[in-house]
Amino acid sequence: QVFKLEDYRPNDYLIPQTNLTFRLSPEATVVTATLTVQRRDGVAAAAPLVLDGDGLTLKRVKIDGKKAKPADLLVTPDQLTILKPPARRFQLLIETELAPAGNEALMGLYRSSNVYCTQCEAEGFRRITYFLDRPDILSVYTVRIEALREEAPLLLSNGNPGDKGDMGDGWHYAVWHDPFPKPSYLFALVAGNLGEVADSFVTMSGRKVELGIYVERGKEKLAGYAMDALKRSMRWDEEAFGREYDLDVFNIVAVSDFNMGAMENKGLNIFNDKYVLADEETATDADFANIEAIIAHEYFHNWTGNRITCRDWFQLCLKEGLTVFRDHEFSADQRSRAVKRIAEVRTLRAHQFPEDQGPLAHPVRPRRYREINNFYTATVYEKGSEVVRMIRTILGADAFRGGMDLYFERHDGEAATIEDFIKVFEDASGRDLSQFALWYHQAGTPNLTVSSTHNAAAQEFTLEIEQSVPPTPSESRKRLMHIPLAFGLIGAGGKPVAFSSVEGASVENGVIHLRKRRHMVRFSGVTERPAVSLNRGFSAPVTLSVEQRADDQFFLARHDSDAFSRWQAFNTLLTDALIAAFREFLGGKQPVFATRLTELAGSIAGDETLEPAYRALALSLPGDADIAREIGKNIDPDAIHAGRQALALAIATANAEAFSGLYHRLANEAAFSPDAASAGRRALRNTLLDYLSLLPGGAALAAKHFQSATNMTDRAAALAVLAHRHHASPEANKALAAFEKTYSSDPLVMDKWFQIQASVPGPQTVETVRALTRHPAFSMANPNRVRSLIGTFSSANQTGFHRADGDGYRFFAQTVLEVEKRNPQVAARLATALRSWRSLEPGRQAKAREALLSIANAENLSADLRDIVERTLA
Ligand code: ARG
Ligand code: ZN
Repeated sequence: QVFKLEDYRPNDYLIPQTNLTFRLSPEATVVTATLTVQRRDGVAAAAPLVLDGDGLTLKRVKIDGKKAKPADLLVTPDQLTILKPPARRFQLLIETELAPAGNEALMGLYRSSNVYCTQCEAEGFRRITYFLDRPDILSVYTVRIEALREEAPLLLSNGNPGDKGDMGDGWHYAVWHDPFPKPSYLFALVAGNLGEVADSFVTMSGRKVELGIYVERGKEKLAGYAMDALKRSMRWDEEAFGREYDLDVFNIVAVSDFNMGAMENKGLNIFNDKYVLADEETATDADFANIEAIIAHEYFHNWTGNRITCRDWFQLCLKEGLTVFRDHEFSADQRSRAVKRIAEVRTLRAHQFPEDQGPLAHPVRPRRYREINNFYTATVYEKGSEVVRMIRTILGADAFRGGMDLYFERHDGEAATIEDFIKVFEDASGRDLSQFALWYHQAGTPNLTVSSTHNAAAQEFTLEIEQSVPPTPSESRKRLMHIPLAFGLIGAGGKPVAFSSVEGASVENGVIHLRKRRHMVRFSGVTERPAVSLNRGFSAPVTLSVEQRADDQFFLARHDSDAFSRWQAFNTLLTDALIAAFREFLGGKQPVFATRLTELAGSIAGDETLEPAYRALALSLPGDADIAREIGKNIDPDAIHAGRQALALAIATANAEAFSGLYHRLANEAAFSPDAASAGRRALRNTLLDYLSLLPGGAALAAKHFQSATNMTDRAAALAVLAHRHHASPEANKALAAFEKTYSSDPLVMDKWFQIQASVPGPQTVETVRALTRHPAFSMANPNRVRSLIGTFSSANQTGFHRADGDGYRFFAQTVLEVEKRNPQVAARLATALRSWRSLEPGRQAKAREALLSIANAENLSADLRDIVERTLA
């Protein structure tokens, strides 16, 4: 079934109130839903009420207190129809029976390590009871949970706590009431025996909120960082957006089986425990940063997602793109803005660009879907965030804030659309955003072709800029977009070059507004030829084809005053060198790298005016997949990898002494702190280790780094260096064994061990990964394990996965089908790893296609997996 945006219409009925009683038991949980149903004004009295279900077992139905007659109903596991609703407003009682213990899809009500928990977004609520399971049905929920006290002393749901007590026979109950009307996807329940970390927060108007984070008993001390991040998020949303928390309690529960990162259920966020639990011994700096960002993200959803929700799932970016933008800004304020921006752009290019440039491309606001779970994508989330950022760039910070204030004022309590969102910014600023809105509606990454000329005699500098958007599935003709392109003209010594006037495009506050296919932007009064810095701060998510002299690029890499663009200039130089090296290897030649490039790497490493984290990012070479994306077609991952190895060695050799000196000077600080500055120093030191490991004595150095590590960041970094750079060496084998021994009973740390081995370059890794699927710490039923081992292998190991004989693909197809039997959603996500198969060289392309076909031809394929595989092959 294909769902279409234009088919949206409100339902005939509303459900203003929802009362739920859960009598919990692993194999036979009884759910009694009492719904107040109301026919909408103007709807014919005869209209049947059609409720969504998914695999439900119906026990009984009462209409206004009376047992429904079979003739009044149409019942299937996936639908319940009340043929003749008795009145404009009536009570509907529905009893269903569930087996949470056997729910391996992890949607609806399931058990994770003996804890009952729920995941309802997008359409999991219909696996609990029959309902109008769509986001525009807002209802006030009252939930009563009954359970054996011994099995589940803790009973949580949304909203504020109410009555609780004993029921006899070892059973107890608790009632929760959420006064804010909400869609069913925000419903949540948790029951089990968990440890609690308690704290409180006083909001800007002086209300005290009780905060709780619930984790597996014994792991309470690992929740301290998450709690701290929560309080910082709550303060930040007050300061940055004027948003205050609205309930008496805010609870977070960490569970070990979870399909995604986390979920923003009203007042009861449920998290993948990977994004809650951390200390220096078990978590890396990247883990700490992710925890901070995801705690913030889910908290920020309370306003952007919950108080204002989505009219339908086509509007998913209304809450996700906006909330990602908000969490990005939060992290930028808490950490280093420049470093954060570079990391965001790297992520966008690594995940969203290939999506936008391949068979799974879709607009930020899609018009069609078969399975909504497959639209929780980098395009909806990450590009969606970039679109919000561009609105702020176009309007300026003040008008943007005005628009956000208007959004909250106008749409609080509503299920809104992207049109509503754009309108508040038009109204707040008086600008016309109709051309800009194409960013929501049109898929594909726009490309800008840029060339420049300086006419010294006329003192005129001209930029010729042309935009084009490549065709994407079902959109062959593209319209012209409004692209805000931030720029700088830079002269000798890095100083800005002045100009007296400009024509050919509107230019405001350092931003060129491109609206036509081609602009000749003419700057007058330009006395010296400037180097031009383009797309500063990554003002628009586009690709650039710039005719730029190498001299200018080197100049910008040293002198651009915009930190992002300065990083970009160096990254472009590295990318160009890597593409050239790839071609040399294909032609059977050894690449030679320019001395000024390897020297520049050295001078960036040692530049004390730059933050260590920035230097670490600059020095980490574009990945194999980044280079493949830039090359675009006829990809041979082995040649790309060989080029990358050669450049790393050239940089290490040219800077051996300087890198070694710096590495030793950065040696460990006395006490561990997860703050951004300390993390940056560790990142730089570990990046230097990676280079130094390529030189004589490198394995011993990495082994020493591993042994003397006092935190997981350094230990995991050294292990990766050993496993990747010194594969199968005694040092690597010894470290892998030691790590396994120390952490075999800590699944989240074992995930790192799986990841490091799954990303070892080379054709042998498919064998390692196959063997590791039989490791006692591995489980096909746990999404974190599957993503660490299988996900890493298929999406972060170009030479291993794309092994020339196709064995990587065969293993992959077989594993995807195995995962699918339990968990279609996780399998569908895994299967996207082959989305760029058409850019491979013909031999691999044919083998990748065979693997995709073998999935497509499997019997009883889930809607989730079928959708991904068919679109990938189309
Ligand atoms: N709304 C969640 C978040 O971004 C994601 C949950 C998606 N879950 C799913 N099963 N599709 O924070
Ligand atoms: Zn979200």
